Amino acid sequence: MMSAAVACDGQKVATGLNAEKKDWLVSLLGPRVQFDVPMWRHTTLAVGGPADVLAMPADIKVLTMLLSGARQRAIPWLIVGGGSNLLVRDGGIRGIVIALTPYFKGITTIDPGPGDVRVTAKAGTRLKTLCRYAIEQGLAGMTFALGIPGSVGGAIAMNAGTADGCIGDVLETITVLWPTGRLQRLSRTDLDFGYRRLSLPTPEITIGQHQGVIIDGTFTFSQTDPRQLRVSVEKIQAERKQRQPGGVSSAGCFFKNPSSGPSAGELIDKAGLKGKRVGGAEISSRHGNFIINRGNACAADILALAEIIETRVAAKFGVQLEPEVIIAGESNHASKSV
Ligand code: EPU
Repeated sequence: MMSAAVACDGQKVATGLNAEKKDWLVSLLGPRVQFDVPMWRHTTLAVGGPADVLAMPADIKVLTMLLSGARQRAIPWLIVGGGSNLLVRDGGIRGIVIALTPYFKGITTIDPGPGDVRVTAKAGTRLKTLCRYAIEQGLAGMTFALGIPGSVGGAIAMNAGTADGCIGDVLETITVLWPTGRLQRLSRTDLDFGYRRLSLPTPEITIGQHQGVIIDGTFTFSQTDPRQLRVSVEKIQAERKQRQPGGVSSAGCFFKNPSSGPSAGELIDKAGLKGKRVGGAEISSRHGNFIINRGNACAADILALAEIIETRVAAKFGVQLEPEVIIAGESNHASKSV
């Protein structure tokens, strides 16, 4: 996916699943399974060691069998969306990385009426594609998401958003597949949205812990004047282009914004950290909340830079920044079989 030069030893370490587990995966997924897959190829930050397994199920039936089989065999698993909000450590990921983006894609308009319009997007659809679809159809409600990278499923799980709105504002229902094989439709009243967070009503089963897989989301948009919509879209896009670095390997904004006061980007900027580097990782000189891989960064470089940011911002402003990016995997090279 990405094409950064990789210079981290940890990223070359292959790991092991025993033969029975590999045979089961091959018989279930055929060509849609790969072993010892470098995660730097599958994340927009372009760092990270190998996942034992990358599984790309083609439909819900196979996904259900994959989850139940993994449960029976005690193999951990992790769903990845666009890999745009994910930092994989250099030791890689033990267990199965499940990618929905290759096959769980598509957008359907359910009520193409004159008033509110309901649109269902499968989890693996890019958020950008859903935004573009809404704009083309003259549907208001998604412009806040312009410039947020990632997949619809990831955006729902994280309640992605900006100061102008978030997924929870426009989401009506989601379909969740539980590892038990139950497919459940949940309406927004069943869902507890927080800042960059979504939890299901049962506290022990949270989507953030990847115990349920989001299959799709249905959104409610209102019809609006397409020409006016295009004008506001162009304005938003021009602002983003000016403020955010483009054409670089990053995970978008690295930290959550504090619940009040200046944004994370502004705090990092005012702490004088823009342009600071550790190894191949650099704080963007355009936007303080973007950590960039200059092409040869390890996950460890990015984590070290993030720690410097947290320490400096806490010392200078008394604010503890929290990563928005999900950090996964093993930090060292030692591997254990699963
Ligand atoms: N600012 C600075 N210096 C900087 C960066 C920002 O002073 O280096 C100031 C800006 O001037 C502005 C304020 O901080 O007054 C907020 O900046 P910005 O409008 O760029 O928004 P943000 O809060 O940093 C959020 C989302 C972005 C999204 C933009 C759209 C979060 C954590 N980030 O950024 O989302 O694209 O709004 O305006 O909520 C992402 O989630 O990955 C992401 C990129």
